[in-house]
Amino acid sequence: MNNKANLNVGNQNYEFECIKGSEDEVAIDISSLRGKTNVITIDPGFKNTGSCKSAITFLDGEKGILRYRGYSIEDLAEKADFLEVAYLLIFGNLPNQEKLDQFLFDIKENSIVDEDLKKILESFPKSAHPMGVLSSLTSALVSFNPSVSDLESKEEMYNAIVKILAKLPIIVAWVYRRAKGLPLDYGDYSLGYVENITKMMFKRPNKEYIQNDTIVSAINKLLILHADHEQNCSTSTVRIVGSSHAGLFASVSAGISALWGRLHGGANQAVIEMLEAIENDGGDTKKFMAKAKDKSDSFRLMGFGHRVYKNFDPRAKIIKVAADEVLKELGITDPILEIAKDLEKEALADPYFVDRKLYPNVDFYSGIIYKALEIPNEMFTVMFALGRLPGWIAQWKEMRENKEPIGRPRQIYIGEKYRDFLDLDLR
Ligand code: ACO
Repeated sequence: MNNKANLNVGNQNYEFECIKGSEDEVAIDISSLRGKTNVITIDPGFKNTGSCKSAITFLDGEKGILRYRGYSIEDLAEKADFLEVAYLLIFGNLPNQEKLDQFLFDIKENSIVDEDLKKILESFPKSAHPMGVLSSLTSALVSFNPSVSDLESKEEMYNAIVKILAKLPIIVAWVYRRAKGLPLDYGDYSLGYVENITKMMFKRPNKEYIQNDTIVSAINKLLILHADHEQNCSTSTVRIVGSSHAGLFASVSAGISALWGRLHGGANQAVIEMLEAIENDGGDTKKFMAKAKDKSDSFRLMGFGHRVYKNFDPRAKIIKVAADEVLKELGITDPILEIAKDLEKEALADPYFVDRKLYPNVDFYSGIIYKALEIPNEMFTVMFALGRLPGWIAQWKEMRENKEPIGRPRQIYIGEKYRDFLDLDLR
């Protein structure tokens, strides 16, 4: 393919440069389109639009490949620690032991959240959805840490990064503990990042907390698998909010809100609710398959389909195995796992799903693990947010370092043409 694209608008021909990525994917650079032609493109849902050049995550939806900074998701999930992956995403390379220790130390030094934030948390109704609370508290953190808003130097950026990596797990644990009626604390300085998260969440006030390696390893894996996924809805939100030079915490808070929706991160909660509904209805998976295919029914098979993966979601493969391991190790037999397996088998053999290339996505099995760990359904997407945090940070940092312009799409106006104003008594 030559590196030019030609476009006819009316009788005029225009030439545009093509850009090639390091994995040979090609984009037509239309940044001069409107200036040259006075027309714009329209692409609802940005299905064909690249918003940036990025060196963080590569995914090939046709081949089912996902890599962070060149490393395969399979290798990282198997061999790495979540904090190493966070460092890799944010700074570009895997850390050596010294760098990793320093990173953990800097995070630990910032592992305090202003006590006054508890008052804000307590003012939410106990029934509030944890994602709404998490987004609000992350935004509120800006007021307690004003130095994170206006970042110009590398040092200020580093400080903001370790601060949010330190404080978000505390808030997540608080949101969870409040929902359970447990006292709030600050975790254990002596522990690793993931071990500290599990202790902060699960420790009972009257009982020594003993780490369970299976639980730590499952959470480590889930966090790694969720850590980045290039320009998805929440990440694009973080980048676009940050492009106005809003600070890191404010941008992450917006990302949390975007992740909340059922079509994005909220799908993990929706999957378990769907599986439970099928079980309560008698377990007839065929009935729900028929509903999913019926265009007059709004029901969708949650955890199936993906905007980019049109083969399989490599994360789903890893999580399916992890779910089996966790249930076996914890001695849990969960009937909804059988329902999930039946649904998967039926969907993979059904022409409706096959023709539309709808495969299980990352969220189809993650909820089963969270449920086995006794994490409430409403907290599933919060766990996703905790995993996605390094990705949001890395993408936000890249956007600022590349000095990207403010995100401001255009539109085609289809409303009323000019109308004379009518006074109230004449309408
Ligand atoms: N169940 C039934 N039909 C589906 C499903 C599903 N889960 N997903 C897509 N379809 C159908 C659509 O109805 C459409 O059919 P049509 O061509 O006959 O009109 C076709 O497949 C294409 O679907 P779109 O919605 O156009 O695909 P899009 O790329 O816009 O959406 C999405 C992707 C949102 C993930 C969709 O597949 C979906 O809603 N899945 C369920 C929710 C889910 O699991 N989300 C998590 C995604 S992973 C993540 O965010 C971490």
